[in-house]
Amino acid sequence: MDVYGIIGNPVEHSLSPPMHEAAFRERGIDAKYVTFEADVDRIEEAFHGAEALGVDGLTVTLPFKHDAFEFVEPEESVRRVGAVNTIDFTESGPVGYNTDMTGTLRAFEHHDVALDGADAVVVGAGGAARALAFGFEEAGADVAIANRTESKAHDLADEVPGATGHGLDELPELMAEVDVVANATSVGLESDDSVAPADAWHSDLVAFDAVYTPLETTFLGDAKAAGAQTIDGAWMLLFQGVDAFEIWTGEEAPVDAMNEALRSHL
Ligand code: ATR
Repeated sequence: MDVYGIIGNPVEHSLSPPMHEAAFRERGIDAKYVTFEADVDRIEEAFHGAEALGVDGLTVTLPFKHDAFEFVEPEESVRRVGAVNTIDFTESGPVGYNTDMTGTLRAFEHHDVALDGADAVVVGAGGAARALAFGFEEAGADVAIANRTESKAHDLADEVPGATGHGLDELPELMAEVDVVANATSVGLESDDSVAPADAWHSDLVAFDAVYTPLETTFLGDAKAAGAQTIDGAWMLLFQGVDAFEIWTGEEAPVDAMNEALRSHL
């Protein structure tokens, strides 16, 4: 039997186990997907332990995505992001991927939203924003980054080719001009706050929210009310898992079964 899992702290409420178990079941793969709540002071030992035990693959979540980057041989596009959320234990060693980034791009594709040549604003400058900003840039979008602490937006923009940094006060002006607005802050997580003023939305925008609890945040609700297309955060969660499954198994992921399992637990 193959063993996969999610490593993080905390991990008990993770939706990855039901999603991956559904995928293995659907494909008839004899595998288990378990949760590992690692000691934050012993994460390096935990990674080496997993490797020594013959774990086949890991999803890495907060706060260990940078530690994972240090542990693995990062795949090319991951070098710039500096964060790893998927480890594949191969015969030649652990290889690291960032499927938060590639999965988000797949979520956009799934919704027929073209990023190549689009203007996109990423709101936020933390880990989630990094994955989105580098992902959008790689997909051919022109990226603007808006953050409450403006200096952090500039710091991230300096790393992403062609990107510009802004304060949050400039968000309404940016929204008037761009095609895509992505929330990569924690605003809206179990609250009805939004980083974007309701009156800044219009029907030519596509709204994406990395927050998925609740599934329809105020950010997405306001966007929808203005006639904008919306993509909720569960799509990012789904496709990061889809990409991980395909990396680990080399098989096409059963997207519908994974989506169903995920949404039934939300
Ligand atoms: P993650 O790694 O999940 O992205 P993070 O690194 O803590 O989390 O980043 C959180 C992001 O949410 C930051 O961009 C933060 O803005 P600051 O850099 O100014 O702290 C943003 N954020 C959190 N609370 C916010 C709020 N109430 N209003 C606006 N932005 C907020």
